Amino acid sequence: MAKIKVLIVDDEKLVRWSLRQKCQDWGYAAIEAENGAEALEAAQAEAPDVVLLDVRLPDIGGLEVLEKLKAAGESAAAIMMTGDPQIDDVKAAIRMGAYDFIGKPLDFDELGVTILNALEARRLRGEVESLRGEMRRQSGTYQVVGASKKTTELMRFVRKVAASEASTILVQGESGTGKDLVAKVLHYESSRHDGPFVAINCSAIPETLIEAELFGHEKGAFTDAKAMKKGLFEIADSGTLFLDEIGELSPFLQAKLLRVIEDQVIRRVGGLRDIRVDVRVVAASNRDLEKAVREGHFRQDLYYRLAVISIYIPPLRERKEDVLPLVDFFVQDYNRKFRKSIRGPSDETRRLLLAYDWPGNVRELRNAIERAMILEDEALLRAIYLPFAVTQPHAGITAFERSSAPAPGEVLPGGRRLPLLSIPDGGTSLEEVERSLVILALEQAGGNQTRASRLLDISRDALRYKMKKFGLIHGEESEEAAASD
Ligand SMILES: Nc1ncnc2c1ncn2[C@@H]1O[C@H](COP(=O)(O)OP(=O)(O)OP(=O)(O)O)[C@@H](O)[C@H]1O
Ligand SMILES: [Mg+2]
Repeated sequence: MAKIKVLIVDDEKLVRWSLRQKCQDWGYAAIEAENGAEALEAAQAEAPDVVLLDVRLPDIGGLEVLEKLKAAGESAAAIMMTGDPQIDDVKAAIRMGAYDFIGKPLDFDELGVTILNALEARRLRGEVESLRGEMRRQSGTYQVVGASKKTTELMRFVRKVAASEASTILVQGESGTGKDLVAKVLHYESSRHDGPFVAINCSAIPETLIEAELFGHEKGAFTDAKAMKKGLFEIADSGTLFLDEIGELSPFLQAKLLRVIEDQVIRRVGGLRDIRVDVRVVAASNRDLEKAVREGHFRQDLYYRLAVISIYIPPLRERKEDVLPLVDFFVQDYNRKFRKSIRGPSDETRRLLLAYDWPGNVRELRNAIERAMILEDEALLRAIYLPFAVTQPHAGITAFERSSAPAPGEVLPGGRRLPLLSIPDGGTSLEEVERSLVILALEQAGGNQTRASRLLDISRDALRYKMKKFGLIHGEESEEAAASD
């Protein structure tokens, strides 16, 4: 086993020397730093287990060093040393995550015990972290629901790949099919589950920043690089790096990524040294990457390297048997979140949910259920609360495209006018329609009653009367709302 490392930070040579002797007696490896800057550098380079940190240093104060260490994600236990402990400093240091304080002149026996305790606390914290990971797995933060043959087989394959040694995996599928979810399964059900899961969306970060983000940079690599920064590859070491929307990477970065994947070493921007990393790369794309290769937008060599193990998640419309189990799952989830006790969809709702083809896949389904769960106040989810796209699929509107798609009542090219409303097969009641219109207006107006009443061309009092009648507000509530609206 590697020796426990203690970083000694003090500007007095004699103090450092005596601490080094003691640490070595105790069987630890000692590293010395004589000021704050050196301390930060040494912590980066050596990843010590314990830092003995003098509060008064010639350059940056000990507290600031502590803050920077914590901000950089260093897990070392910090023990502060000071000749005159000021209660404010002590409080601040403990708040910043220091393990303990010890007075100067140093009592070495006391220090020895403090170091042992700090190491024990740090070990326990590590255990708590991994227990936390276990609980996350069991509590189903990434629970995959699905009853269809396609999903069952897919998940069997995903779990097998997760447990394998595969270092790169490609996940493809339309938007909202569950690529993020699968990436998490690939991490949490692998032997790397105690390591970090780090995700980055390649399309969300400007091209110019992505390189430094992925590979880190050395101090002074460019104008803003005031300090060394670790990249995501280094941060994800021993864990998984999820590169979402990989199709958006520039050709330059595609080439660089291929090298990193093949050699498992990275070089920080402005750096000269190769740093070995042990990272599983899960790449995802909702574009057809093979097509992107054919069209010359994506490097063929990188595609082949990523596609060695490739997982394709089929769209929800090709696995409709998943719809109702997913609905049940989301209903339970939102019952918990909204403190409701809705039993599930009504027959009519069920029929509509199964008939719709879900271009936005599971995400669109989840959003539809969330919306209905917010609005429903009876035991079953009624169809009146489903999004327009689901109840009127012929209108060619999906919940995602509502802003760009033709609106009900709009005249389409060719002169056909979309009906403002249409009556479901089983019929409806005028009151039901009126109630949904009131709700829609309130939704569209962001809850503002004055604006909602204008949308319906009625007075605000008339709107409030209808809201009361339909049970959307109750007596006292309505007075409050009136006062605050
Ligand atoms: N099989 C499933 N069981 C439970 N929830 C699911 C399932 N598939 C997807 N979801 C949920 O649907 C939503 C969308 O999934 P996710 O974000 O993984 O999709 P995606 O493929 O990454 O989409 P995008 O391409 O837009 O990034 C999430 O809330 C996710 O938890
Ligand atoms: Mg995603």
